[in-house]
Amino acid sequence: MVDLIEKKRDGQELTKEEIHHIIKAYTSGDIPDYQMSAFTMAVYFQGMTDNERAELTMAMVHSGDTIDLSEIQGIKVDKHSTGGVGDTTTLVLGPLVAAVGVPVAKMSGRGLGHTGGTIDKLESVPGFHVEIENKQFIELVNKNKIAVIGQSGNLTPADKKLYGLRDVTATVNSIPLIASSIMSKKIAAGADAIVLDVKTGAGAFMKDLEDSKELAKAMVDIGNLVGRRTMAVISDMSQPLGYAIGNALEVKEAIDTLSGKGPTDLEELCLTLGSYMVLLAEKAKTLDEARSMLVEVMSNGDALKTLKIFLEAQGGDGSVVDHPDTLPQAKFIVELEAEQEGYVSEIIADSVGTAAMLLGAGRATKESQIDLAVGLILNKKIGDFVKKGESLVTIHSNQENIDDVMNKLYSSISISSSEVKAPKLIYATVE
Ligand code: URA
Ligand code: CA
Repeated sequence: MVDLIEKKRDGQELTKEEIHHIIKAYTSGDIPDYQMSAFTMAVYFQGMTDNERAELTMAMVHSGDTIDLSEIQGIKVDKHSTGGVGDTTTLVLGPLVAAVGVPVAKMSGRGLGHTGGTIDKLESVPGFHVEIENKQFIELVNKNKIAVIGQSGNLTPADKKLYGLRDVTATVNSIPLIASSIMSKKIAAGADAIVLDVKTGAGAFMKDLEDSKELAKAMVDIGNLVGRRTMAVISDMSQPLGYAIGNALEVKEAIDTLSGKGPTDLEELCLTLGSYMVLLAEKAKTLDEARSMLVEVMSNGDALKTLKIFLEAQGGDGSVVDHPDTLPQAKFIVELEAEQEGYVSEIIADSVGTAAMLLGAGRATKESQIDLAVGLILNKKIGDFVKKGESLVTIHSNQENIDDVMNKLYSSISISSSEVKAPKLIYATVE
């Protein structure tokens, strides 16, 4: 290992065998953390070649179990978003692309964050659960084109261990390490093809557009080198996506969007990502054709029907689709009123997310309980005009005293006297 650290430190390219050895021996405990720390710092400064990144990814894939989805008919396209605030895309995209025949075999987690993960959100539908057997999961995808199962098995243990180490050695922020970490998890979960939504802006992991582009390109290159067709979209996360931030609130927002009545930014991003998914699944020949198929199922009710069938197949009460008011409701509804008139110039996504977490919409630690009913509805987005006293945000709370939440929101939203343009939603695509 000393020789390999030295080799990377001096900027030389490691071989496939060397990379696989490092990951295997680190996972088994034969390479200690202190040597791996030196190695990741060497990678941080020297980077990795395309081949090294691809080998690192596959070494992490093979460090644990891989999910075999070969019994599911069709090309399994997975979507990954690098995270953001109020990102309801997964809830919309699943039923949307399933409705045009793309198999959606989603393995999902809970995790920490401003709101719960996809599973937490879906569990706000009474009765819905993800504790299903692998066999049933596969049957459901073949029958309905969509099912969601909880994370099981020992997927990419090398990534878990390495991510933990990077977190405490200031080596998280390295493009080759981030790209291989994300891609290894998607590939281990059985994806044949991958669509990436790389967020950029204040609420994103990558705050800077050039960094986001570089990360997107790194992941697309890895995917294509290891035989998984991969495409990426770089989208805005300077302000939250859509209006809703919260679990049940986002389920309602997803229902609205699937019926063509959702926020325009959320709808547009879902149509863009969805078109790439349909294209990669080979259900359409061009992006335009893919997009018209998706627009069609939004307007003819098929997308919504697919959501209902999916929820019912996993024990959920499908009537929420027609009556979203049966989802969990918060006790107190409070309006955050604008203190002055003008144009909304800033809605800092991550601090709005923190406000949602203060209400109880997300987990601060693994042990925290989520309150599915609470959250925020943005009534204004960047560029909108607001009158003094008009509501900026509707707060759904189960606590009576929410001064901290209101202060947090006031400090996240800026109002300007001069006109402000809405930010661009999609900055670039990488194919
Ligand atoms: N998300 C991941 O899964 N891995 C990283 O390294 C960074 C963000
Ligand atoms: Ca949202």
